[in-house]
Amino acid sequence: MEPIKDHLSRPLRDIRISVTDQCNFRCSYCMPAEIFGPDFAFLPKEEYLTFDEIYELVLAMGDLGVEKVRLTGGEPLLRKNLHELIAKLNKIESIKDIALTTNAMLLPKYAMKLKEAGLKRVNVSMDAIEEEVFKKMNGRSVSTKPVLKGIAAAREAGLEVKINMVVQKGVNDDQIVPMASYFKDKGITLRFIEFMDVGSTNGWKLSSVVTKKEIVDILDKHFPVEPLNEAYFGEVASRYRYAGTNIEVGVISSVSDSFCSSCTRARISADGKLYTCLFATEGYDLKPLMRNALSMDEVSNAISALWNKRRDRYSDERTEETAKNRPKIEMSYIGG
Ligand code: GTP
Ligand code: 5AD
Ligand code: SF4
Ligand code: SF4
Repeated sequence: MEPIKDHLSRPLRDIRISVTDQCNFRCSYCMPAEIFGPDFAFLPKEEYLTFDEIYELVLAMGDLGVEKVRLTGGEPLLRKNLHELIAKLNKIESIKDIALTTNAMLLPKYAMKLKEAGLKRVNVSMDAIEEEVFKKMNGRSVSTKPVLKGIAAAREAGLEVKINMVVQKGVNDDQIVPMASYFKDKGITLRFIEFMDVGSTNGWKLSSVVTKKEIVDILDKHFPVEPLNEAYFGEVASRYRYAGTNIEVGVISSVSDSFCSSCTRARISADGKLYTCLFATEGYDLKPLMRNALSMDEVSNAISALWNKRRDRYSDERTEETAKNRPKIEMSYIGG
């Protein structure tokens, strides 16, 4: 079937599903500890979509053109028995790619189970290789050691691994070269991410963004890089390889060089709200519809109607003004 298209002719190809809004880290750019403290009202677990509901939803969205599913959070591995969800999703024929974005803390425990359930790859968030910088950034004083163990466990289990590093000026920009050097030596793809104004609690300022150009210039001085073509339509990362090698490195430049014109992603929160942009102000609650609809066709039709109307292109339109004043959903809730 032809994939459905939005108002700007963008097909619906991927869904990012948040399976929990909780996390065992408190990265300052995502869940600052002052805001996400002991009294923070996380979603009650009864509000979560069940694995069966997620399966039904992915099946329905497969008919609308979705081929790729990414499980996110918060920290998705905090959701009990996540491998069982992966095994279910793996049975859906239209889904060609299932991936997971994680902080790797629980990978030593789950990597093998995830692989056996059919997961092919994980993206691991890691913002520094130097111990003190890493401890400070994750907000929980966690050492790099368990994360590196998690990465090693994933590789041993046969999962493809990429690393995501959010770069903030004056916080961890001194880690660009050490991180590149460390992961280049290991042959692991590292992607630098421009700090984004997601949510309204992370204190984003344009001046704290290190741009793609700045990152590539820094890299190039130490390890010359050559640009590569995109691996798939709508890939968010600009890809490069270290000259004379096949080792890749990427930059995700939502701020300085946005990629909304090829954005094929919808997001679903853990409690079943559909968002047509990472910076959406409102979601569409699928749960009551799923629980009351006579058939999943009704759910498909509702999603189709929403996607047809979609005009989101927040990163193309971003200004300091929108970053400050537009009410936005928190990253840990919408899933990144
Ligand atoms: P691959 O499938 O491996 O290419 O992963 P991905 O880059 O699509 O997903 P990942 O969860 O690793 O996200 C990396 C970074 O890209 C995160 O900071 C995301 O928030 C950001 N990102 C992913 N999709 C979008 C998007 O649609 N818009 C914006 N602005 N950022 C996005
Ligand atoms: N800006 C850019 N990337 C972010 N992430 C979380 N918050 C932000 C932000 N404010 C990243 C995480 C993870 C991915 C899902 O999103 O580091 O790798
Ligand atoms: Fe947790 Fe990832 Fe957010 Fe850090 S970026 S607080 S690891 S969800
Ligand atoms: Fe897609 Fe919104 Fe990100 Fe643009 S800002 S790429 S429309 S999710």
